[in-house]
Amino acid sequence: MPAQIIDGKAIAQEVREEVAHEIAGFAGSRPQPSLMVFLVGDDPASQVYVRMKGRACEKAGITSETRRFDADISEKALLQEISAINNDPAWNGLLVQLPLPGHIDTQKVIEAVAPEKDVDCFHPFNVGRLSVGMPVFSPATPAGIVEMLKRSDIKTAGKHAVILGRSNIVGKPMASLLVQKGDFANALVTIVHSAAADISEYTRQADILIAAIGRPEMIRGDMIKPGAIVIDVGINRIDADNEKGYRLVGDVAYDEALEIAGHITPVPGGVGPMTIAMLLKNTLKAYHMQQG
Ligand SMILES: NC(=O)c1ccc[n+]([C@@H]2O[C@H](COP(=O)([O-])OP(=O)(O)OC[C@H]3O[C@@H](n4cnc5c(N)ncnc54)[C@H](OP(=O)(O)O)[C@@H]3O)[C@@H](O)[C@H]2O)c1
Repeated sequence: MPAQIIDGKAIAQEVREEVAHEIAGFAGSRPQPSLMVFLVGDDPASQVYVRMKGRACEKAGITSETRRFDADISEKALLQEISAINNDPAWNGLLVQLPLPGHIDTQKVIEAVAPEKDVDCFHPFNVGRLSVGMPVFSPATPAGIVEMLKRSDIKTAGKHAVILGRSNIVGKPMASLLVQKGDFANALVTIVHSAAADISEYTRQADILIAAIGRPEMIRGDMIKPGAIVIDVGINRIDADNEKGYRLVGDVAYDEALEIAGHITPVPGGVGPMTIAMLLKNTLKAYHMQQG
């Protein structure tokens, strides 16, 4: 029997409507929540992501602005711009779209964002809170995955979750969330990265397989345990004979995985939409915290 498809687009829409509904409930009587987005340079994928985030904010009732900077802006000038938003009570959240040009120290930028406005949950203060099980914000992509599991009523306690990839954005915070005690956590977590001699040794043991390696369709059907929950985080462009000249695929060979997994997320339409929905949730949280 083919795997059940976890419809990230539909679940994300539910979350977005909940956020919009809550904001509509106090609209007019209080200021609107707000998100400032910084975009440095003209990376095409970043431009698309930023545009999608802006539109999602608008639909939810969150005021948002994208401030664009030339790719050659100095690190010092960018840090000054961040400081200005940190000190401006008009903005509840600040997101600096990554990646940044090579001459800018990304970690310095991440640490410059005020933790209470860090809706991406990248600042070490927020990462630390997350790892001790006292999150302020939840990192958008991993939290979106947990939300999908929750709303699909997929229990994680006692299950072996194998996470492919150890980035600070996906792999590590994913592990932090799943390893905590609590509902839709309490998993037995393994993180796999490029030092593994043979990743299939690990993937085949996974009750829950979360692929975040950025390698198009690397995870083949025979690397998946029958009935496993497969969450595909990867977004990879591959050449295609269409108008755009490319199409998006995940890290998992979808058609093969569909035949063996119990549940699977598609690409596109799986994890991606959840990331944006959780960003809105974080922005609303920042707003509530700052409003007291
Ligand atoms: N859906 C969404 O909203 C969303 C959000 C964020 C990212 N993404 C996508 O998710 C993917 C991962 O993103 P990221 O930012 O986490 O990537 P990243 O920073 O490049 O990290 C990739 C991780 O995968 C590991 N890896 C790479 N090739 C491997 C291999 N052959 N075997 C085992 N491990 C391997 C790397 O290991 P080392 O650490 O040893 O190098 C690294 O830990 C990308 O396709 C990205 O576009 C999607």
